[in-house]
Amino acid sequence: MSLKVVILAAGKGTRMRSQLPKVLQPLAQQPLLQHVVNTASTLDATQIVTVIGHGAETVQQTIKGEHLEFALQAEQLGTGHAVAQANDYYGENDTVLILYGDVPLTAQSTLKDLLSLVDAHHPLALLTIRLADSSGYGRIVRNQHHQVQAIVEEKDATADQKSILEVNTGIMAVKGAYLKSWLGKLSSDNAQGELYLTDIIEMCVADGFQVHTTQPDSEIEVLGVNDKKQLQDLERRYQRQQAEQLMRSGVTLMDAGRVDVRGQIEVGQDVSIDVNVVFEGRVKLGDNVQIGANCIIKESVIADNTIIHAFSHIEDSQIEQACVIGPYARLRPGTELASEAKIGNFVEVKKSKIGFGSKVNHLSYIGDTLMGAHCNIGAGTITCNYDGVNKHLTEIGEGVFVGSDSQLVAPVKLGDGATIGAGSTITKEVPAEELTLSRSKQITLKGWQKPVKKPK
Ligand code: UD1
Ligand code: CA
Repeated sequence: MSLKVVILAAGKGTRMRSQLPKVLQPLAQQPLLQHVVNTASTLDATQIVTVIGHGAETVQQTIKGEHLEFALQAEQLGTGHAVAQANDYYGENDTVLILYGDVPLTAQSTLKDLLSLVDAHHPLALLTIRLADSSGYGRIVRNQHHQVQAIVEEKDATADQKSILEVNTGIMAVKGAYLKSWLGKLSSDNAQGELYLTDIIEMCVADGFQVHTTQPDSEIEVLGVNDKKQLQDLERRYQRQQAEQLMRSGVTLMDAGRVDVRGQIEVGQDVSIDVNVVFEGRVKLGDNVQIGANCIIKESVIADNTIIHAFSHIEDSQIEQACVIGPYARLRPGTELASEAKIGNFVEVKKSKIGFGSKVNHLSYIGDTLMGAHCNIGAGTITCNYDGVNKHLTEIGEGVFVGSDSQLVAPVKLGDGATIGAGSTITKEVPAEELTLSRSKQITLKGWQKPVKKPK
């Protein structure tokens, strides 16, 4: 006896008007279906079977997860037919949870509630919701004792039934043995000529069972996506939810409508985030981290008391405590800043370690570099790390001062306490504690005449 999840994801999604299959359209930068698979994976299911059809190959290549199987529905003959494609994957004693690849935000707790309603005497449970406008949905038909009798699709409903506001979300949990037998009895004798999964509710009642129902906490949990407008609406609602969660954990947001979390974020105390900040992947922010407007932070850890000024872009980086970054800084993958380091405006750093308290304040490129503590790198310093074929390392000791507009041609080493004169091109190892420079001599041509404009 175990739990199997079946996710319906074969539909075409014509209204998306996109080459990308509907279930691969992104919500918070992740395919809709991946959200569903991720939630399903938290339920201890022994298998997650995704029924695919349109764009099957692409879907199968894109979606990742443990215990994930794919069943092909070559022709979309209805939701009942779709579930039947997964018949080989569940046994009589299993409980089957049916989810939808285009309904991404169902909460784990809601699904657990639903599963708790299924037992030996209740082989089927339904997730329903009351909507102000129920048009388009299957209506939940109940008798005078409020017991579920059937689901009637919009196109098959009488005028009376159409006025019912409680609708089928599509999500249900069913005992394997019954599911298999009921699916076997479906017919396409209905307005759409399809095999309706929803017809099994009537069969369940006819077999003498009561159908129990539960409702989600929030409507957002059962919203499906059919077109770009609904996709955008759901994205905004999802982001609003993320922002509210950040504020509940004590984050100061300048505008809850202008922060996007496209991944997972972990925050310390007294974090503040200005407008138009985007987080991608896994991001961790320590206590008192301040982030200025228009920053993008991806897959990075930012330790306590660090300040990131506006328009900075940080990716795959580790930032220790009390650093100051930006405005207009770009930290590319493999950047590690030790505490109190300072990266100023128009500075790009890649795959480099910057030591404690070191400063690269203006207009520099630091790539493939190991830099010690307390260095001061002047404006316009460039590590020439690439010879056109290979990348080379620049090693800078502690307390090194590099004068402005210098080029450090890698591979090259600068000893502790070295000083480099401004405008130098350094190609050889620099000794510790000395002044090293490379510079052509300055000359003045005395009595030189400025050119004058020729008469026309
Ligand atoms: C379905 C329900 C309806 C419910 C609504 C909630 C049925 C008959 N009706 O209606 O009661 O209120 O969802 O949104 O179940 N799919 C396949 N293969 C198919 C058919 C559908 O994989 O052959 C997938 C679709 O890709 C989609 C989902 O199942 O993700 C629902 O199918 P759809 O045709 O949209 O059902 P609705 O008419 O909306
Ligand atoms: Ca639908």
